[in-house]
Amino acid sequence: MSKAKVHLVAAARPNFMKVAPLYHALNTADWADPVLVHTGQHYDRNMSDAILEDLRVPEPDFHLGVGSGSHAEQTGGVMIAYETVCMEHRPDWIVVVGDVNSTAACAMVGTKLWIPVVHLEAGLRSNDRSMPEEINRLVTDAIADVLWTPSEDADDNLLAEGVAGDKIDRIGNIMIDSFEMLRESIEAADARADLGLEAGGYALVTLHRPSNVDSADTLAPIVDALTEASRELPIVFVAHPRTIKGLERFGLKDSLESAADVRLLEPVPYVNFMNLVTGTRLVITDSGGLQEETTYLGIPCLTLRENTERPITVTMGTNELVTTDTLAELLQRVLAGDWKSGQRPPLWDGRTAERAVEALRRRHTAG
Ligand code: UD1
Repeated sequence: MSKAKVHLVAAARPNFMKVAPLYHALNTADWADPVLVHTGQHYDRNMSDAILEDLRVPEPDFHLGVGSGSHAEQTGGVMIAYETVCMEHRPDWIVVVGDVNSTAACAMVGTKLWIPVVHLEAGLRSNDRSMPEEINRLVTDAIADVLWTPSEDADDNLLAEGVAGDKIDRIGNIMIDSFEMLRESIEAADARADLGLEAGGYALVTLHRPSNVDSADTLAPIVDALTEASRELPIVFVAHPRTIKGLERFGLKDSLESAADVRLLEPVPYVNFMNLVTGTRLVITDSGGLQEETTYLGIPCLTLRENTERPITVTMGTNELVTTDTLAELLQRVLAGDWKSGQRPPLWDGRTAERAVEALRRRHTAG
């Protein structure tokens, strides 16, 4: 019998750390062949190719080269390009990951061609429909055939929406697999030393949500709060291209760079970035992935958002939601050592890809 062809769809920076462990695990399976599809939503070297190299993933089999655009342009562009690939090289399974525009786009293409679609990282809900990712999550989970969830709260969300329980496989958090696969390289990397930083001697900041960085009304108070915070602890701000554009557009870049102690950096690839994460005293972020990685590593995380689709990082982990008004107070608490130590959620153990492949094999052989 020929091997099952499994498309793994990756599009944007946080997708690569989710696809890589699955790629490696499927590659060693005797019943399946992974086929990597890169939609091209992210294209800067440090947002894409350098991360894939860090994760030891080869060149994608298909590159759709979609690039940036409005939501409709991006979603539509991915659908048109991916439909052509699926018609010419029909896969047995499509795995889409996370919550970016390409996730929903490829899920729609697959289900309309009657190709079974698996959603990896299903069931997360911020319950905030002003967030583009929430729309992508709802659309993808409503149509996917199989839902791979990271934690019990995700199962509960899906069941409450009427999803049949037998579609759900709780497999755990696959990003932790990437971290554990590269732990030695991460610990040996030079990023921290190259910046002259001591472990525990700085705060790491990342921000990219449209709700934070696309308007001066939200970004200016954040810049003020970070400037204030940098008087307590040097700040390393690894900025997404969207954020750098916002800082420039609103005339905030100079004030941030001349602030007490803020280093503004362009995106950093995975291994060096995680080297910065593992040595930081705390993280200030609006990223979903970092809320999870800090919980896994037991590092205090202050999330500059009104809600999170990853509540387990707050209830079990080291994460708290903050506003520009409460940031200074919570930062003081971290510096005073008054912070919860947190626990690792069940199944966040570096073996999620193994469970995913076994779950897929069972479904594939059940036909
Ligand atoms: C996307 C995802 C978001 C995810 C984030 C991770 C959606 C709706 N959003 O947001 O969920 O957390 O990726 O980073 O899919 N740009 C570059 N180089 C690149 C990519 C983007 O310069 O390689 C710039 C472009 O000008 C683009 C802007 O960043 O307009 C935003 O990129 P886009 O892919 O639309 O969304 P993200 O903000 O990256």
